[in-house]
Amino acid sequence: MQEHRVVIDTDPGVDDAIAILMALACPSFEIVGLTTVGGNVPLARGTRNGLALLEYAGREDIPVAAGAARPYRGSFRYSYRFHTPNGIGRRLPNPKTRPVEIGAVEFLAGALDHAPSGLTVIALGPLTNLALLLERYPESLERLNLLVVMGGAVDVPGNTTANAEFNIHSDAYAANLVLSRMSPTTLVELGACRQAAITREDVGNLRSSGRLGRLAAQILANWFARDEGRRRFEFYDPLTVAAAIDPAVMTVRRTGLRVELEDPELFGATLPDYGNPEAAVSHQVDTERFFGLLAETLGLRVQDRI
Ligand code: RIB
Ligand code: CA
Repeated sequence: MQEHRVVIDTDPGVDDAIAILMALACPSFEIVGLTTVGGNVPLARGTRNGLALLEYAGREDIPVAAGAARPYRGSFRYSYRFHTPNGIGRRLPNPKTRPVEIGAVEFLAGALDHAPSGLTVIALGPLTNLALLLERYPESLERLNLLVVMGGAVDVPGNTTANAEFNIHSDAYAANLVLSRMSPTTLVELGACRQAAITREDVGNLRSSGRLGRLAAQILANWFARDEGRRRFEFYDPLTVAAAIDPAVMTVRRTGLRVELEDPELFGATLPDYGNPEAAVSHQVDTERFFGLLAETLGLRVQDRI
């Protein structure tokens, strides 16, 4: 019996791809669909990558719904250097399938409406689709079991500005709306993600089993091979999926958060706000448990890590 009906909102992306493969390999997940958003790469490229990953995994049955191509204000600043223009850094056959006709927001609203025991949403990119869902279908959120977000930098430096993390900064207005209204939310932020990393040496000792695990290992090996200055790969999105699979993978602290929208220095920063619903914010990662989940789902083993 699968425990979680899940929609993954994503901007695939190297780490998104590994996270999606992990979710596909998780027996307790019933993946209702992928919804895509611009962010790491343009929406069309991310949507294509979502379709291609599902076809690679033989899961064409899982629908993909395309969402926002741009944030509430301005435009997305794509992250080609980290994710390459193709978004995954490993060629996948052109998908034969196409996204569904309806958009991501309508798809999310429908998935929530048809989730008798509720839905878990895992957000791995900018929060634009979720903010639009809040605005257009607020009543559907009554069937939100849990929102797990990769985003934010709480009491640690950002990765996009000194204070802001990429997903939140990419659409700070959307993120602020989501953090002020959606609950229960688990936030997997940079402080935790930096604890779940592998080194260039680890990749040399990476063992994988199965089709999905081998693809994940190739994606990681390609990422390091593209820039010899790269020393560590941090599992941002895979840790977020791991937190949805097994909340004990990290400890959390509970606090309301907001996103800074005014101060140019702090724009996109995730700051305490006790007037907002308390989120479970990541703290200490049980790295043995995390790498154990990578091994259990994808057969991905970092020697002498587990
Ligand atoms: O800051 C890391 C996040 O931004 C990850 O989700 C990565 O895929 C990018 O979207
Ligand atoms: Ca992502």
